Amino acid sequence: MSRAIGNLLARMFTFLVPTKIIFGLNSVSKIREELDRIGARKVFIVTDAVVEKAGLVDEVKAELPSGLDIDTYNRVEPEPRLEIAEDLATAVRSIRPDLILGIGGGSVLDLAKIAAVMITNEGSVSDYCKSILNIETFRSKGQSTILIPTTAGTGSEVSNTSMLVVGGMKIFLRSRFLFPELAIVDPKMSLTMPQKVTAATGLDALSHAIEGLMSSNSSALTDALALKSVELISQNLIKAYRDGRDIDARTAMSLAAMMAGMVLNAGMVYGHSVAYTIATRYKLAHGVSCAIPLSYVMAYNLSTCVDKLQKVAIAMGENVSGLNPEEAARKSVEAVQRFVHELGVPTNLTSIGVPREILPVLASECLEKYHRPNNPRVMSIDDAVALYNRIWEGRPFG
Ligand SMILES: [Fe+2]
Repeated sequence: MSRAIGNLLARMFTFLVPTKIIFGLNSVSKIREELDRIGARKVFIVTDAVVEKAGLVDEVKAELPSGLDIDTYNRVEPEPRLEIAEDLATAVRSIRPDLILGIGGGSVLDLAKIAAVMITNEGSVSDYCKSILNIETFRSKGQSTILIPTTAGTGSEVSNTSMLVVGGMKIFLRSRFLFPELAIVDPKMSLTMPQKVTAATGLDALSHAIEGLMSSNSSALTDALALKSVELISQNLIKAYRDGRDIDARTAMSLAAMMAGMVLNAGMVYGHSVAYTIATRYKLAHGVSCAIPLSYVMAYNLSTCVDKLQKVAIAMGENVSGLNPEEAARKSVEAVQRFVHELGVPTNLTSIGVPREILPVLASECLEKYHRPNNPRVMSIDDAVALYNRIWEGRPFG
């Protein structure tokens, strides 16, 4: 048996995406028959003011059958706080719709998922936020949910998590009941996304793909999705960033982000942990906070995943001919740094104003609050401090 096959057979894995996906240009037009199938009459739309102003809610409403009872909640904020989730839970319980329709970016979709379970589960949202990682705390399946992403990055439309900010800290709700029933991924809905949001959300997807590849819980299934996603992102994100109307690039990014969303099955590693320690402190979009540490965490893990990072380099179009596997893997780190920089996103901690003195605080928070047993290389506190120093200085290999 070859070593590669042996490795595949030796690893048990679970993979869960119970969501029906309808993907493609103009797929929003399918919503009418899906509503008939579900039998929904009372629809509760979860969105935000920006998405509403861009006309995207109206675009979806135009495809809905007439005679529906429709309510709209548009108060979702970026990096939503617990208070907003509680407000939404009160609103949705007073209406008791038979369908939740989330139209927006990751924050909106995360909250739409929470709205759906808060109809069928008792108590307040805070009852389900007792730790950083709240696993399977909901007891009942939520109301039927359809999610329509308007960005291309978070993968929330195919994931079982919702993120909330509680007392300045990022916490996660993770439950099989948070998967939506249906995701309609129509690249047309992402055409109005501003340049900065395009870059940040696309880099979040790249982080999901590469961190998932490095995770010790990865599988042949997540690896395949991750590598294809890396290839699509490296070929299309800069195009979509430069010309938001480039429908081919937008389509490729919608697909890549959704595939990377499924890679979340493998679990994220220390890139996302570092991101959580800097995002709220320095008011960074989630994707930006993930993009900054990504290449450094790749460099840190390199010795444990040479083969995979070599594949990332190839997927990103790097010329690795004549290089040994480690040299080729190092090319992936350089490629990611260049890519992030080309998208106008910082590649170190100095440029976002992080003082050097705070690095040990961030490092211990990273290990204590956002520990990753699935990171392929063990990280001690000294390792973490050294990692933060490298990110601060802008030198992935020290
Ligand atoms: Fe993320």
